[in-house]
Amino acid sequence: MAIREIIKLPDPMLRQASEPIHTVDAELRALIEDMFETMYDAPGIGLAAVQIAVPRRLIVLDATRGDTPPNPMAFINPQIVWSSEALSTHEEGCLSIPEEYAEVERPAQIRVRFLDRDGAEGEMTADGLLATCLQHEIDHLNGVLFIDHLSRLKRGLIVKRAKKQAKMGAPAPKRPERAKMGAA
Ligand code: NI
Repeated sequence: MAIREIIKLPDPMLRQASEPIHTVDAELRALIEDMFETMYDAPGIGLAAVQIAVPRRLIVLDATRGDTPPNPMAFINPQIVWSSEALSTHEEGCLSIPEEYAEVERPAQIRVRFLDRDGAEGEMTADGLLATCLQHEIDHLNGVLFIDHLSRLKRGLIVKRAKKQAKMGAPAPKRPERAKMGAA
């Protein structure tokens, strides 16, 4: 297992659509283990493979909070097959856009089809933080970031700050008190 480097905005790979996975094998399971390790280390509640510069359709997440035991989940080729008309708003952050948080409105409930770690087909209905996190991660597989759901003005400000940060080369100062939801 290894902690991988997380790529950051404005890395152009974040805007690339990820490729479907055809084989669920030991190599893929090793990649999933690395993604869990990287996500927990960050710390974050979700991670898409493209965020560690592997543009394949794979996401991991753990949306448990507080004293709840960890619940690591991996989704291969995840696909949203149904979204509720009802919307809900959660504060989102992203490990590839450090220190930026904003309220994002998305369908409150979704149904997802995917392959699990053994290559078996699964389907799951999710709501609350899990639904938000799944939609955030699946967006990553399509080159979409949470800032794309914000106004052009808000998005512009965040991109400008990220570019400045990348130029300076220094990591942004930690402001954990702002991370209400956790980054993904
Ligand atoms: Ni993210």
